[in-house]
Amino acid sequence: TTINVLLSGGVGSRLWPLSRKSRPKQYLPIFEEQTLFQKTVLRNRAFCDDVVVVGNCDNYQLSQKDLKESEITNYTEIVEACPRNTAAAIAFAAFATKSETILFITPSDHLIEEGESYANAVNRAIQLAKEGFIVTFGLKPTKPETGYGYIEAEGENVKSFREKPDLKTAEAFLENGSFFWNSGMFCFQAGIYLDELQRLEPEVYHSAKEAYENSKDGKLDFDLSMKIPAISVDYAVMERTDRIKMVNSQFQWSDMGSFESIYDYLEKEGHPKDELGNMVIGTGLHTEFAGLTNTLLIQTPDAILVLKKENAQDVKKIYERLEKEK
Ligand code: GDD
Ligand code: MG
Repeated sequence: TTINVLLSGGVGSRLWPLSRKSRPKQYLPIFEEQTLFQKTVLRNRAFCDDVVVVGNCDNYQLSQKDLKESEITNYTEIVEACPRNTAAAIAFAAFATKSETILFITPSDHLIEEGESYANAVNRAIQLAKEGFIVTFGLKPTKPETGYGYIEAEGENVKSFREKPDLKTAEAFLENGSFFWNSGMFCFQAGIYLDELQRLEPEVYHSAKEAYENSKDGKLDFDLSMKIPAISVDYAVMERTDRIKMVNSQFQWSDMGSFESIYDYLEKEGHPKDELGNMVIGTGLHTEFAGLTNTLLIQTPDAILVLKKENAQDVKKIYERLEKEK
């Protein structure tokens, strides 16, 4: 059995004001009237027998609504009481299944081109997972992005995994040529993940197990959840496991993680911008830019954000300040 595990607990703080706590980016119908969440489930249906959603208590109703609209009735939802990052989120899904079940872990907020290269990559990953490996998907990097993980590989063999390097290191990786971006999707047997987590991060393993075993109606216990160290799967497992493999992936991929990646995506799609690279999102109002280059204006019914494309990572700080001021 192969299960598509959808990670859907992030708030998408780097996409404020489009993305809100009450409606994170994976639930926005930005593309072809489907949400990124719906696109993810539908894209992976062909490879998986079942669906497990790991979402959070603030917005899990949105995933249920999306699944219903997509006519997917057979799924399990694990509702987190508070976000404890991806090492724990994946562990919950693994605790919910048999040890030999293959988990195909996918973020729910990426935009990916379906087609032959995607199918080839996923099928190969499932094959390697059956053989007992922890599989990552490597994409050809196009810039020294510091928000991603990097996989150093020779064929399918992984020499090293480095999560979110600083700019200097990322530039060196790009120059080196044998480094790939980590897509954020993974494939492995539930039991193998749990073995590695227990070996590498025993505290995460044991506290996540306790929180999971004390969940009621699929909802995790808050106090026990707060005890789980919040660490991502990339730092907890991928950087340190030697059971890791990489599938070289050729499909079009955007993680829609920041306004910079949205800008790049929209640009390719032919969304209008002026000759100095200024772009407007979310309003039909006539907008002019003077003295500005590569600037984005983002409008929603109750907020406007103006930002230089290269400052896209600063939006998270704005979001965090607004949360504090609430
Ligand atoms: N259920 C749950 N609970 N989901 C979570 C939680 C949590 O506590 N935290 C994050 N997620 C979900 C997010 O919604 C997203 O779908 C996915 O897990 C990955 O989390 P991000 O916070 O978006 O990670 P990242 O973008 O910084 O880095 C990851 O993705 C990159 C590619 O987009 C890493 O895997 C990098 O190595 C990778 O390059
Ligand atoms: Mg992300």
